[in-house]
Amino acid sequence: MAVRERLTLEPVPLEQVPEVTRFLTELGLGALRQDAITAFFGRNDSWAGVTDAGVPVFVKKTLGEADLVRLRVERTRAMSALLDGHQVINAPRFLGGDAESGLVAFTLLQDARSGADLASDDDFTWELARSAGLQIGTLHTLQAPPVVAQDTSPPPVPPLGRLSALPLSVYAAASGAELEAWAILHNDPAIVEAIGDLARWERSAPRVPVHCDIRLDQFLHHDDTLYLTDWEEARAADAARDVGAFAGEWLYRGVLGMAGGDDTPNEREVVANGTRRFEALRPCVESFWSGYLQARPAARSDRELVARAAGFAGWHLIDRLIVAGHRRGRLSPLERAAAGVGRRLLLDPAAFTTILGLGDER
Ligand SMILES: Nc1ncnc2c1ncn2[C@@H]1O[C@H](COP(=O)(O)OP(=O)(O)O)[C@@H](O)[C@H]1O
Ligand SMILES: [Mg+2]
Repeated sequence: MAVRERLTLEPVPLEQVPEVTRFLTELGLGALRQDAITAFFGRNDSWAGVTDAGVPVFVKKTLGEADLVRLRVERTRAMSALLDGHQVINAPRFLGGDAESGLVAFTLLQDARSGADLASDDDFTWELARSAGLQIGTLHTLQAPPVVAQDTSPPPVPPLGRLSALPLSVYAAASGAELEAWAILHNDPAIVEAIGDLARWERSAPRVPVHCDIRLDQFLHHDDTLYLTDWEEARAADAARDVGAFAGEWLYRGVLGMAGGDDTPNEREVVANGTRRFEALRPCVESFWSGYLQARPAARSDRELVARAAGFAGWHLIDRLIVAGHRRGRLSPLERAAAGVGRRLLLDPAAFTTILGLGDER
């Protein structure tokens, strides 16, 4: 299945990254016990375990250009300080960060299940979805900390600079399936124009603290509490980004999870079947949205919020496709179909708000 699940992996051996042990020791947490370290699937390298001082920790090393790494660590630090001990929003406790090495440490939520795992097992209940909505709605009422408020760097997606062509280095490193996903964009001027319109639309929207990288695998369920992790891309931006990404996650699952033995369904069938399957998942978006509006009633006065969110949900389907193509030769017909659904949303987002579960509350 192409939907990304939370996987535990072999961690990068700590001998190869001595700065991890140095970092944890300097924080006074002790070194990780070597015998039981795991890693989780993500963009970055991570290590999870218990230190010899008995502290359960999750450490990750943010990879990338030094300036971007520094910003990601500072955003994580600022958002974690804002949310530490918060009544509504649950973020894993931040234990420390180092902007130079890109290392950040958090309390490990032991044996947590990610939202993606829960959804795959049909265990992402409406109550959890409502909690997600309450937390994200509350986030959008807060005042962004200075590091986040003053950050004018563009959010990483949509990648406006890559919509008509890829830089040679990205092209050369891309897999066959990634190139297929990019080609869907590059051969479709209407989608590219719609994404540009969405970016302009966002500029006219109110700016609030936004997580900016919402996916089901960023939620962790631990001790009956739903946590939201991975704050490194937080921005003062359009609330529609988070709302649309949450809805888009469920829609993507609807399209990919649709039943049917035909390996090469045509687009009309996919849209029909995917929509039917999504009907079973839509209550999660509706519960999210009712929690959201409860936490942030003022969202009702931002009349175009739901339409922009539908646009971002459409973008999210295309983004998932690019991610799903990582290291694979071909996209599946269903994945290509997901892009077709994303395209429809992008071209006429206002028409899809109720179908998505973002309609007026009943
Ligand atoms: N404090 C934590 N406790 C337990 N698991 C965590 C914690 N933080 C993150 N994870 C798990 O590790 C994965 C990767 O962490 P994340 O911060 O999202 O890194 P990345 O930037 O690599 O996506 C998450 O999807 C989640 O499943
Ligand atoms: Mg993550």
